[in-house]
Amino acid sequence: MTTMTTLPTSPSRVVVTGAAAGIGHATAAAFARTGAVVFAVDRDADGLADLAGRHRTVVPVPGDVCAPDLPDRLAGLVAENGGGLDALAHVAGCYRRGTLAASDPATLEELFALHVVAPTLLTQALLPALERAGGAVVAVSSTFGHRASRTAAGYAASKAAVESLTRTWAVELAPRGIRVNAVAPGPTETGILAASGMTADASGRSARPNGSGCAGPARRRRRDRGLDRRARPARVDDRTGGFVDGGLTHG
Ligand SMILES: NC(=O)c1ccc[n+]([C@@H]2O[C@H](COP(=O)([O-])OP(=O)(O)OC[C@H]3O[C@@H](n4cnc5c(N)ncnc54)[C@H](O)[C@@H]3O)[C@@H](O)[C@H]2O)c1
Repeated sequence: MTTMTTLPTSPSRVVVTGAAAGIGHATAAAFARTGAVVFAVDRDADGLADLAGRHRTVVPVPGDVCAPDLPDRLAGLVAENGGGLDALAHVAGCYRRGTLAASDPATLEELFALHVVAPTLLTQALLPALERAGGAVVAVSSTFGHRASRTAAGYAASKAAVESLTRTWAVELAPRGIRVNAVAPGPTETGILAASGMTADASGRSARPNGSGCAGPARRRRRDRGLDRRARPARVDDRTGGFVDGGLTHG
Protein backbone atom coordinates (compact mmCIF):
# COMPACT_ATOMS: atom_id res chain seq x y z
CA MET A 1 0.00 0.00 0.00
CA THR A 2 1.06 3.60 -0.42
CA THR A 3 2.24 5.11 2.84
CA MET A 4 1.01 8.47 4.01
CA THR A 5 4.48 9.87 3.43
CA THR A 6 4.83 8.59 -0.15
CA LEU A 7 2.13 10.46 -1.96
CA PRO A 8 1.12 9.42 -5.46
CA THR A 9 0.94 12.99 -6.71
CA SER A 10 1.89 16.36 -5.33
CA PRO A 11 -1.22 17.90 -3.87
CA SER A 12 -1.19 21.66 -3.62
CA ARG A 13 -3.78 22.28 -0.90
CA VAL A 14 -4.64 19.96 1.95
CA VAL A 15 -6.40 20.01 5.31
CA VAL A 16 -5.01 17.90 8.17
CA THR A 17 -6.79 17.74 11.53
CA GLY A 18 -4.96 16.76 14.67
CA ALA A 19 -1.86 18.30 13.12
CA ALA A 20 -0.14 19.46 16.30
CA ALA A 21 1.03 16.02 17.41
CA GLY A 22 1.56 12.39 16.51
CA ILE A 23 0.26 10.98 13.23
CA GLY A 24 -1.40 14.25 12.21
CA HIS A 25 1.82 16.18 12.77
CA ALA A 26 3.80 13.66 10.68
CA THR A 27 1.13 13.79 7.95
CA ALA A 28 1.09 17.59 7.86
CA ALA A 29 4.88 17.77 7.78
CA ALA A 30 5.02 15.20 4.96
CA PHE A 31 2.57 17.22 2.88
CA ALA A 32 4.43 20.47 3.65
CA ARG A 33 7.70 18.94 2.48
CA THR A 34 6.10 18.42 -0.93
CA GLY A 35 5.37 22.16 -1.04
CA ALA A 36 1.64 21.82 -0.40
CA VAL A 37 -0.26 24.48 1.47
CA VAL A 38 -1.37 22.67 4.62
CA PHE A 39 -4.31 23.96 6.63
CA ALA A 40 -3.32 22.46 9.94
CA VAL A 41 -6.15 22.13 12.45
CA ASP A 42 -5.73 21.37 16.13
CA ARG A 43 -6.88 22.68 19.47
CA ASP A 44 -3.22 22.82 20.53
CA ALA A 45 -2.31 26.28 19.22
CA ASP A 46 1.28 26.09 20.49
CA GLY A 47 1.87 22.79 18.69
CA LEU A 48 0.52 24.29 15.47
CA ALA A 49 2.74 27.35 15.85
CA ASP A 50 5.73 25.06 16.22
CA LEU A 51 4.73 23.13 13.07
CA ALA A 52 4.26 26.38 11.14
CA GLY A 53 7.64 27.59 12.35
CA ARG A 54 9.26 24.55 10.75
CA HIS A 55 7.25 24.54 7.51
CA ARG A 56 6.48 27.83 5.82
CA THR A 57 3.50 26.47 3.83
CA VAL A 58 1.61 25.44 6.97
CA VAL A 59 -1.40 27.62 7.77
CA PRO A 60 -2.28 27.09 11.45
CA VAL A 61 -6.00 26.79 12.15
CA PRO A 62 -6.29 26.58 15.93
CA GLY A 63 -9.59 25.24 17.13
CA ASP A 64 -11.65 22.30 18.29
CA VAL A 65 -12.83 20.17 15.36
CA CYS A 66 -16.09 19.65 17.26
CA ALA A 67 -16.78 23.39 17.46
CA PRO A 68 -19.90 24.26 15.43
CA ASP A 69 -18.16 27.12 13.57
CA LEU A 70 -15.06 25.13 12.53
CA PRO A 71 -16.38 23.64 9.24
CA ASP A 72 -17.47 26.98 7.81
CA ARG A 73 -14.34 28.74 9.07
CA LEU A 74 -12.15 26.17 7.33
CA ALA A 75 -14.20 26.19 4.14
CA GLY A 76 -13.82 29.98 4.08
CA LEU A 77 -10.05 29.75 4.48
CA VAL A 78 -9.77 27.20 1.67
CA ALA A 79 -11.95 29.36 -0.59
CA GLU A 80 -9.75 32.41 0.08
CA ASN A 81 -6.70 30.38 -0.95
CA GLY A 82 -7.82 29.34 -4.39
CA GLY A 83 -10.84 27.16 -3.75
CA GLY A 84 -9.80 23.60 -4.56
CA LEU A 85 -8.81 21.02 -1.96
CA ASP A 86 -6.66 18.04 -2.94
CA ALA A 87 -6.80 16.14 0.32
CA LEU A 88 -8.62 16.17 3.62
CA ALA A 89 -7.08 14.03 6.35
CA HIS A 90 -9.20 13.45 9.45
CA VAL A 91 -6.55 12.56 12.01
CA ALA A 92 -7.71 14.28 15.21
CA GLY A 93 -8.69 11.66 17.73
CA CYS A 94 -8.54 10.51 21.28
CA TYR A 95 -8.44 7.14 23.04
CA ARG A 96 -10.62 6.28 26.01
CA ARG A 97 -10.45 2.99 27.85
CA GLY A 98 -13.84 1.63 28.75
CA THR A 99 -15.41 -1.77 29.12
CA LEU A 100 -19.14 -2.16 28.70
CA ALA A 101 -19.49 -2.17 32.49
CA ALA A 102 -17.55 1.08 32.77
CA SER A 103 -19.09 2.91 29.80
CA ASP A 104 -20.70 6.26 30.48
CA PRO A 105 -22.70 8.63 28.27
CA ALA A 106 -20.24 11.53 28.37
CA THR A 107 -17.30 9.44 27.15
CA LEU A 108 -19.33 7.78 24.42
CA GLU A 109 -20.58 11.16 23.25
CA GLU A 110 -17.04 12.56 23.26
CA LEU A 111 -15.73 9.67 21.14
CA PHE A 112 -18.53 9.82 18.61
CA ALA A 113 -18.48 13.62 18.43
CA LEU A 114 -14.75 13.60 17.65
CA HIS A 115 -14.47 10.52 15.41
CA VAL A 116 -17.85 10.54 13.65
CA VAL A 117 -19.78 13.82 13.87
CA ALA A 118 -16.88 16.24 13.40
CA PRO A 119 -15.39 14.51 10.30
CA THR A 120 -18.87 14.25 8.82
CA LEU A 121 -19.62 17.96 9.16
CA LEU A 122 -16.13 18.97 8.07
CA THR A 123 -16.24 16.79 4.96
CA GLN A 124 -19.71 18.11 4.18
CA ALA A 125 -18.51 21.74 4.37
CA LEU A 126 -15.48 21.00 2.19
CA LEU A 127 -17.27 18.96 -0.49
CA PRO A 128 -17.35 21.79 -3.07
CA ALA A 129 -13.61 22.36 -2.63
CA LEU A 130 -12.85 18.63 -2.84
CA GLU A 131 -15.01 18.24 -5.92
CA ARG A 132 -13.35 21.18 -7.62
CA ALA A 133 -9.89 19.60 -7.22
CA GLY A 134 -10.91 15.95 -7.61
CA GLY A 135 -9.61 15.52 -4.09
CA ALA A 136 -9.26 12.67 -1.62
CA VAL A 137 -10.56 12.15 1.89
CA VAL A 138 -8.49 10.04 4.26
CA ALA A 139 -9.95 8.99 7.58
CA VAL A 140 -8.04 7.39 10.43
CA SER A 141 -9.53 4.29 11.97
CA SER A 142 -7.63 1.83 14.16
CA THR A 143 -7.10 -1.90 14.20
CA PHE A 144 -9.76 -1.73 16.94
CA GLY A 145 -12.17 -0.56 14.25
CA HIS A 146 -12.42 -4.11 12.89
CA ARG A 147 -10.98 -6.30 15.66
CA ALA A 148 -12.35 -7.06 19.09
CA SER A 149 -10.98 -5.14 22.03
CA ARG A 150 -11.49 -6.19 25.64
CA THR A 151 -10.96 -2.74 27.06
CA ALA A 152 -12.04 -0.12 24.58
CA ALA A 153 -15.66 -0.77 23.64
CA GLY A 154 -16.65 2.83 22.90
CA TYR A 155 -13.39 3.73 21.14
CA ALA A 156 -13.59 0.60 19.00
CA ALA A 157 -17.23 1.27 18.12
CA SER A 158 -16.44 4.84 17.07
CA LYS A 159 -13.61 3.59 14.85
CA ALA A 160 -15.88 0.92 13.34
CA ALA A 161 -18.21 3.79 12.48
CA VAL A 162 -15.28 5.58 10.79
CA GLU A 163 -14.74 2.51 8.58
CA SER A 164 -18.43 2.35 7.73
CA LEU A 165 -18.50 6.05 6.82
CA THR A 166 -15.42 5.54 4.68
CA ARG A 167 -17.08 2.85 2.58
CA THR A 168 -20.35 4.72 2.33
CA TRP A 169 -18.80 8.06 1.41
CA ALA A 170 -16.58 6.38 -1.16
CA VAL A 171 -19.59 5.02 -2.98
CA GLU A 172 -21.55 8.24 -2.60
CA LEU A 173 -18.74 10.56 -3.69
CA ALA A 174 -17.11 8.54 -6.47
CA PRO A 175 -19.45 10.03 -9.10
CA ARG A 176 -18.27 13.47 -7.97
CA GLY A 177 -14.62 12.50 -8.49
CA ILE A 178 -13.76 12.37 -4.79
CA ARG A 179 -11.90 9.32 -3.42
CA VAL A 180 -12.40 8.20 0.17
CA ASN A 181 -10.18 5.76 2.05
CA ALA A 182 -8.99 5.18 5.58
CA VAL A 183 -5.88 3.91 7.29
CA ALA A 184 -6.21 1.75 10.37
CA PRO A 185 -2.96 2.05 12.29
CA GLY A 186 -1.73 -0.43 14.81
CA PRO A 187 0.16 0.81 17.86
CA THR A 188 2.06 3.95 16.98
CA GLU A 189 4.40 5.85 19.27
CA THR A 190 2.30 8.91 20.13
CA GLY A 191 0.57 10.52 23.07
CA ILE A 192 -2.49 8.35 22.44
CA LEU A 193 -0.50 5.16 22.84
CA ALA A 194 0.83 6.38 26.17
CA ALA A 195 -2.69 7.31 27.28
CA SER A 196 -4.02 3.90 26.22
CA GLY A 197 -2.01 2.10 28.85
CA MET A 198 -0.25 -0.01 26.23
CA THR A 199 3.09 0.29 27.97
CA ALA A 200 6.33 -0.13 26.10
CA ASP A 201 7.52 -3.70 25.84
CA ALA A 202 11.24 -3.69 25.32
CA SER A 203 11.07 -7.11 23.69
CA GLY A 204 8.52 -5.79 21.22
CA ARG A 205 6.58 -8.99 21.80
CA SER A 206 3.11 -7.61 21.90
CA ALA A 207 1.15 -4.49 21.31
CA ARG A 208 -1.82 -5.79 23.28
CA PRO A 209 -2.97 -3.98 26.40
CA ASN A 210 -2.83 -7.21 28.39
CA GLY A 211 0.72 -7.83 27.25
CA SER A 212 -0.04 -11.27 25.83
CA GLY A 213 2.01 -12.28 22.87
CA CYS A 214 1.80 -14.96 20.21
CA ALA A 215 4.01 -17.99 20.25
CA GLY A 216 5.64 -20.13 17.60
CA PRO A 217 4.54 -19.90 13.97
CA ALA A 218 1.70 -17.54 14.76
CA ARG A 219 4.09 -15.15 16.46
CA ARG A 220 6.50 -15.40 13.52
CA ARG A 221 3.67 -14.62 11.09
CA ARG A 222 2.70 -11.56 13.13
CA ARG A 223 6.32 -10.41 13.28
CA ASP A 224 6.80 -10.94 9.54
CA ARG A 225 3.71 -8.88 8.80
CA GLY A 226 5.03 -6.10 11.01
CA LEU A 227 2.34 -6.54 13.63
CA ASP A 228 4.73 -7.14 16.50
CA ARG A 229 6.21 -3.70 16.43
CA ARG A 230 5.12 -0.18 17.06
CA ALA A 231 5.15 2.34 14.27
CA ARG A 232 6.57 5.79 14.33
CA PRO A 233 3.93 8.38 13.38
CA ALA A 234 5.56 9.03 10.01
CA ARG A 235 5.39 5.32 9.12
CA VAL A 236 1.73 4.48 9.38
CA ASP A 237 1.28 1.91 6.67
CA ASP A 238 -0.06 -1.58 6.12
CA ARG A 239 2.81 -3.25 7.97
CA THR A 240 1.66 -1.66 11.21
CA GLY A 241 -2.09 -1.72 10.76
CA GLY A 242 -4.47 -1.82 7.84
CA PHE A 243 -6.08 0.03 5.06
CA VAL A 244 -9.79 0.54 4.59
CA ASP A 245 -10.44 0.67 0.91
CA GLY A 246 -13.43 2.81 0.21
CA GLY A 247 -14.05 1.80 -3.36
CA LEU A 248 -12.81 -1.59 -4.54
CA THR A 249 -14.51 -3.53 -1.78
CA HIS A 250 -17.93 -2.20 -2.63
CA GLY A 251 -19.80 -5.20 -3.88
N1 LIG B 1 -1.19 6.07 18.23
C1 LIG B 1 -1.78 4.91 18.00
O1 LIG B 1 -1.32 3.85 18.45
C2 LIG B 1 -3.03 4.87 17.15
C3 LIG B 1 -3.49 3.62 16.72
C4 LIG B 1 -4.65 3.56 15.94
C5 LIG B 1 -5.31 4.73 15.60
N2 LIG B 1 -4.85 5.92 16.02
C6 LIG B 1 -5.59 7.11 15.63
O2 LIG B 1 -4.73 8.04 15.02
C7 LIG B 1 -5.27 9.36 15.18
C8 LIG B 1 -4.15 10.28 15.67
O3 LIG B 1 -3.76 9.85 16.95
P1 LIG B 1 -2.26 10.04 17.50
O4 LIG B 1 -1.81 8.71 17.94
O5 LIG B 1 -1.43 10.80 16.53
O6 LIG B 1 -2.58 10.90 18.82
P2 LIG B 1 -1.95 12.24 19.41
O7 LIG B 1 -2.56 12.38 20.76
O8 LIG B 1 -0.48 12.22 19.30
O9 LIG B 1 -2.50 13.36 18.44
C9 LIG B 1 -3.86 13.67 18.39
C10 LIG B 1 -4.00 15.14 18.04
O10 LIG B 1 -5.40 15.41 17.86
C11 LIG B 1 -5.68 16.63 18.53
N3 LIG B 1 -7.07 16.67 18.92
C12 LIG B 1 -7.72 15.80 19.74
N4 LIG B 1 -8.99 16.19 19.90
C13 LIG B 1 -9.15 17.32 19.16
C14 LIG B 1 -10.24 18.18 18.92
N5 LIG B 1 -11.44 17.97 19.49
N6 LIG B 1 -10.06 19.24 18.10
C15 LIG B 1 -8.86 19.47 17.54
N7 LIG B 1 -7.78 18.69 17.73
C16 LIG B 1 -7.94 17.63 18.54
C17 LIG B 1 -4.75 16.64 19.74
O11 LIG B 1 -4.59 17.96 20.25
C18 LIG B 1 -3.50 16.06 19.15
O12 LIG B 1 -2.65 17.06 18.62
C19 LIG B 1 -6.45 9.22 16.15
O13 LIG B 1 -7.65 9.25 15.41
C20 LIG B 1 -6.24 7.85 16.78
O14 LIG B 1 -7.46 7.27 17.18
C21 LIG B 1 -3.71 6.03 16.79
